[in-house]
Amino acid sequence: MLRMRAAALGGLMRAARGGRRCRDPSGGLRVPSLCSAPPPQPVIAAKEPFPVELKEGKSYSWCACGHSQRQPFCDGAHKKEAPGLSPLRFTPARTGPAWLCGCKRTRTPPYCDGTHKGEAVQGAPLPPRA
Ligand code: FES
Repeated sequence: MLRMRAAALGGLMRAARGGRRCRDPSGGLRVPSLCSAPPPQPVIAAKEPFPVELKEGKSYSWCACGHSQRQPFCDGAHKKEAPGLSPLRFTPARTGPAWLCGCKRTRTPPYCDGTHKGEAVQGAPLPPRA
């Protein structure tokens, strides 16, 4: 009974938060206070875009959290470093060169829109890399 109520409450909390799960990190009961925490923010992987060659019709996963060691693509680091953030899966419409965002602040993900040129990115410290 208690387990059913907890599950129902968890479902309501997920729905209210747009599908985000609110779980005790130790794996225990769901903790409402964790649900009020702000969503994780991406870190700046680079202060400039990454030049890449894309292939039409091929599926790519662009790192949206900034923690991947395979920038600008996902290596799964978000699961540990930024739960709640997911890579952006995209399929380019044409083959050719592209500039994929490295600062993770673009308004046109996964492509660079020049946001990295602003002080918010250029003046920010880069996180330490492993
Ligand atoms: S690298 Fe992010 S907007 Fe250019």
